[in-house]
Amino acid sequence: MKSIIKAIPFTVLIVLSIFAQIGGYNIGAFKLYAVIIGAVLIINMMLAVLLKVKDYFLFGTTSVAILGILSVLFVPLLGEVYIRNITTGLYIGLFIVAFFPPIFKMNPFTYQFSENNYPKIITQSKQFFKINLIINYIWAVLFAMAIVLTKVTYSDNNIVQTILAITVPLAPQLIIGIPATKKLPVILMQTVKGARLHFSSIKELFEAMPLGLNKKRSAGVDALIQFMLTGKEPANGYMEIKNQKCTYTDGIHKNPKTIIKCDSELWLKISNNEVSGDLAFMKKEYEVQGDMSVLLDLNRLFSNEKEEAKTIKNNESEEKFEYKKFGPDKIKNIVVFDGGPRSDKLSKTTFMVKHFCEGAKQADANVEYIRLKDKEIKPCTGCFMCWTKTPGECVHKDDMTDLRKKYREADLVVFASPLYIFSVTGIFKNFMDRMLPIVKPYMLLSEQGFTMHPDRFPELGEQGFVVFSAAGFPDIEHNYDGISSMFRLLDKHSENIHMMGEFYLPAAETIVQPFYKSRKDEIKEACHNAGVQIVKEGKVDKKYMRIISDTGFSKETFKDQANNFWESLEDKKSFLTEIPKL
Ligand SMILES: Cc1cc2nc3c(=O)[nH]c(=O)nc-3n(C[C@H](O)[C@H](O)[C@H](O)COP(=O)(O)O)c2cc1C
Repeated sequence: MKSIIKAIPFTVLIVLSIFAQIGGYNIGAFKLYAVIIGAVLIINMMLAVLLKVKDYFLFGTTSVAILGILSVLFVPLLGEVYIRNITTGLYIGLFIVAFFPPIFKMNPFTYQFSENNYPKIITQSKQFFKINLIINYIWAVLFAMAIVLTKVTYSDNNIVQTILAITVPLAPQLIIGIPATKKLPVILMQTVKGARLHFSSIKELFEAMPLGLNKKRSAGVDALIQFMLTGKEPANGYMEIKNQKCTYTDGIHKNPKTIIKCDSELWLKISNNEVSGDLAFMKKEYEVQGDMSVLLDLNRLFSNEKEEAKTIKNNESEEKFEYKKFGPDKIKNIVVFDGGPRSDKLSKTTFMVKHFCEGAKQADANVEYIRLKDKEIKPCTGCFMCWTKTPGECVHKDDMTDLRKKYREADLVVFASPLYIFSVTGIFKNFMDRMLPIVKPYMLLSEQGFTMHPDRFPELGEQGFVVFSAAGFPDIEHNYDGISSMFRLLDKHSENIHMMGEFYLPAAETIVQPFYKSRKDEIKEACHNAGVQIVKEGKVDKKYMRIISDTGFSKETFKDQANNFWESLEDKKSFLTEIPKL
């Protein structure tokens, strides 16, 4: 009923303009129509007031019609102008309705239309208002276009002209305006920045979720989550994310991929970001069955860009560094120097390197894995005997003699060290210091202006190296500056060994938790693929480095999780039983 009331003035005016044109704009004949139509519009307005239809579109079109009818009845000169320009007048009215109210801080006229198609929680948001403002001005432009199009002469034939003068101005509205009003809110919800919605009930949350899906990030996601909520607002319903669309259905699905059993109040708090979902899960405050990987993604899938800025950024300087590329058939022999003190099972650096090596072996490279902690490596004495009295030989007779040979003979050297105090471990640094004998004491200047020592074994040709390092902090920037600078400088100040890639894994200790299984799998795959690629193509794509360095969660989430973990240990006997004194 309300839609009919809204449509009546517009339709009546269009019909009237046809009669006016067919009747040769005869004001005398038009007076009768004017009275009838005036009466219809007045009744329509009364009904609108009774049914509380608050609509600028209705007021705009009715006002234009009433003004026209009054002029036809009482000011014939003006009336004649009006009946010759009914449709133009109609669009002028609509343009005014679209253009002016927002300037005076009133709701955009499209608001009332789109309001009916979206849940209240969405329509009350600032994003939705902004979106409507955009659509509103699209309509203002369309109405301005229509004003012009009503004045165009399309044909000499009166009937053809009448039809075209009405249909042509209408066409852009039907082709652009109506689809834009329907589709744009869903599209723009993901791009217009705004505060996160705050849900006051589970009902609101589930109504809004399908509209809040971040299309870009949901590419390739195929999830079916069954919610079983208990407590204050019990609800059973399932959410399906597929083909970049999200749907929510009440009830129980026969075959969900993930089941979430949670207290409704807690789930609301998690959804409103008042409680960390990861943390609550780890505290066993809710239960998840089936594929848990989607949980890690939920926040990302339903978050806006502003929040994304809070997640850890990739190493920006990585973009600026030119990694060495050799091309196929270069990397055949690989040696790994792992400088971590932990066991293979515990070390996250080793985890990455092992998968890199498996990829390299699969591509037919020979790999030798050396654990520096098991080797005898005395610290450098700084005597420079390796440059003076015994060139190329160190005063220490330990495992380094063999390691130096392996180092210089490899096509690719893998430097692996956990991040210790923003740099490599002591074990690793000792090893690096003892590499001095492989260069000569003379000085060279590179083309880029870096001072270098000449290679003692240039006949062995150029080598590549890659770096792997796991860190505790979730930060890439600043945390990894030291280690990255060290290896970049090694690249710049070396004649024959150059860096092909850096693999930095922040927040490394989290990957063993079941919750982060999908991230662990991603890292494993990226390392493996990088290993295959370096052998097959003689280069490493940056995307593999990025996959490893992008945690996908915010530092805030990390902080909460870590603190919770340490707190959870406080009651345990083996931890924090006594406070050590310095
Ligand atoms: C002595 C020491 C120093 C550390 N310094 C840092 C550091 O500067 N930055 C950081 O993010 N993590 C630091 N960590 C944490 C480790 O990098 C983290 O535990 C990492 O997972 C170790 O790698 P791994 O698993 O290969 O042994 C340090 C750990 C230790 C034991």
